[in-house]
Amino acid sequence: MFLETKEGKTKILVPKQRTKSIFYNPKMELCRDIDIAGVAAFVSPLPSQQAPLTYIDALAGTGVRGVRVAKEVGLAIAINDRSKSAYELIKKNIKLNKIGESAKAYNEDANVILLQNKYDLVDIDPFGSPVPFLDAACKSVKKLLLTTATDTAPLCGAHPGGLRRYDAKTLNTEYHKEIATRILLGRITRDLCKYDRAILPLLSYSKAHFIRVIARVEKGAKKADESMKRLGFIAHCFSCGNRFAFSCSELLEMSLKKKCDVCGAKIHIAGPLYLGAIKEKGFCEQVHEELGRREMGKPKEAIKIVATCIDELDIPFYYEHHAICKALKVTPSPLSSLIDTLRSNGFYASRTHFSDSAFKTDARMEEIKEILKKVMKSWASSRKSM
Ligand SMILES: C[S@@+](CC[C@H](N)C(=O)[O-])C[C@H]1O[C@@H](n2cnc3c(N)ncnc32)[C@H](O)[C@@H]1O
Ligand SMILES: [Zn+2]
Repeated sequence: MFLETKEGKTKILVPKQRTKSIFYNPKMELCRDIDIAGVAAFVSPLPSQQAPLTYIDALAGTGVRGVRVAKEVGLAIAINDRSKSAYELIKKNIKLNKIGESAKAYNEDANVILLQNKYDLVDIDPFGSPVPFLDAACKSVKKLLLTTATDTAPLCGAHPGGLRRYDAKTLNTEYHKEIATRILLGRITRDLCKYDRAILPLLSYSKAHFIRVIARVEKGAKKADESMKRLGFIAHCFSCGNRFAFSCSELLEMSLKKKCDVCGAKIHIAGPLYLGAIKEKGFCEQVHEELGRREMGKPKEAIKIVATCIDELDIPFYYEHHAICKALKVTPSPLSSLIDTLRSNGFYASRTHFSDSAFKTDARMEEIKEILKKVMKSWASSRKSM
């Protein structure tokens, strides 16, 4: 009935065949690898505690995340799932890894266990949206919140539902993955604020069908107030591609201005969403180091994501190189030459982990288009002389 597999240094029993009652997705090993490195990076600089830090894997399935955190990082873990068969398997996985001293299985509703107990680290990895568990998670968490969202279709604007769950309007732009990530961060900001807590994103990324956020939680009404100031909106013109961000305090002024100042077309607005940095460079560097020295299943892919996050500019949207070239009716040059030229013209520019063919810059769309034409000319003439 079960099959033994391995992730990192951890042995895991998983169902031989897909079942409704016990969930396991081997493709999420990448996400779990980054989590292990992330949790290790978070706890290692903390002063050594008398009691070990507490961690809850509140929606655990086979328990693979929690069991890995106990075995590979050494925290005291609560591993919970509402499904009875998942709970029975979690107990087997705890035994298999000989972590009975530090890990305990629970068979509760996640919201109940989170509302009744406080944990230093809270992990919610649900089917679809984390919103039904966010309020309880925000009340329970003391230091670090880890959240997945797999409802990327409504978050990205491909299906309706963004407004209903997240109290935010999304837009299906070429950078919808970033809008989705920031809408989720905005929702968490508001949920934490209710309990005088503030979010500080340490590593937020989107890959395949999911978004994952690892965020420090800080206490205090003042910090919570400050975090609310990091919320805002993004305005986008679908006609010329012009886009810009504005804060909540600028909302009234913006709501009067409904036309793009470049081409005069209607401006569309996404938000409220998180406009602050979605990662902390120093933390990402530590995660990168942890990934490099630990036994991991998918180190290359994980290292690539985190390495790109380290250098990614803290600008709340990106530009798809090919989409701009298509609009200009030019063949795309290598992305690296565009980034170099933007920099040599005095702009900030970087790649983004959200898309291999996109870039971030503080240049406006019209400036990007001018620079792209220059890059095209010099690239075309260098190819001719080859
Ligand atoms: C996406 S799976 C978790 C996967 C797991 N974290 C992993 O990395 O393999 C979501 C899990 O949440 C459980 N679940 C759904 N609603 C729940 C609730 N209200 N309370 C506790 N568990 C719940 C399901 O039984 C399922 O095992
Ligand atoms: Zn426009």
